[in-house]
Amino acid sequence: MRKGVREENPEIVDLRGYPSRVAHDVTYERLATLPPGHWLEILLGELPYPFFETLNRQLRGRICWKEAPTERPWRVFVWHRDDGPGLTLGALLGRDHDRLDALFAIVLTLIEGGRWTEATVAFSSYASDLRRHINAENVLTLRLRIPLAMGRDPLMELKEEHERIIAELDLIERVTANEVMDSTIAPLFALFSGLLAKHENREEQVLFPAWDLNLRHLDERSRANLLGNIEEILAPD
Ligand SMILES: [Fe+2]
Ligand SMILES: [Fe+2]
Repeated sequence: MRKGVREENPEIVDLRGYPSRVAHDVTYERLATLPPGHWLEILLGELPYPFFETLNRQLRGRICWKEAPTERPWRVFVWHRDDGPGLTLGALLGRDHDRLDALFAIVLTLIEGGRWTEATVAFSSYASDLRRHINAENVLTLRLRIPLAMGRDPLMELKEEHERIIAELDLIERVTANEVMDSTIAPLFALFSGLLAKHENREEQVLFPAWDLNLRHLDERSRANLLGNIEEILAPD
């Protein structure tokens, strides 16, 4: 079996003895291009946390990692979030962002091609998946607290943004249900696309890492239950 392609046969990267900054840069380069299906086992001379948490934030949550139960050197298994178990909320929800973005891109392509009937059907399927995604995040606002940031409540802001997104979704659905879709609808989609891109970016940069930090403090069973619950909500019917 080719090295690195499976969990049982990961490619070993030995960073022991590297200054922290160098270890960070070398790992970043490897992980930024780590493809799905390729596993690494990284030997590290420093504590994996916050080393990997910082890296993953810079990588917008594209990796999953778990520590082997040993110390010095610390051994950490790393894989792409699209492959293997999603052990963090950043992985589960980030993966779902990518899926939703790909669906939305299909809708835009259909609109550009003037294929209005197919665009309406594709948008309706996208809208129901996005509602499911927002529902999962709203459930998390009730289950995981995160601290106020400079007097502002990030969870309250998240809920308000979700309400705005749902209102925009409703508007587009109303318009496309009552009228024949044509080129006048394109600006509505462009606005919606911008709103969502900013929202997802904020979640991946700020909210998901904060939730995952919170998740680390739960016991193993509660953590597995919560991740399982979110996976169930996200799964299409
Ligand atoms: Fe959201
Ligand atoms: Fe989201």
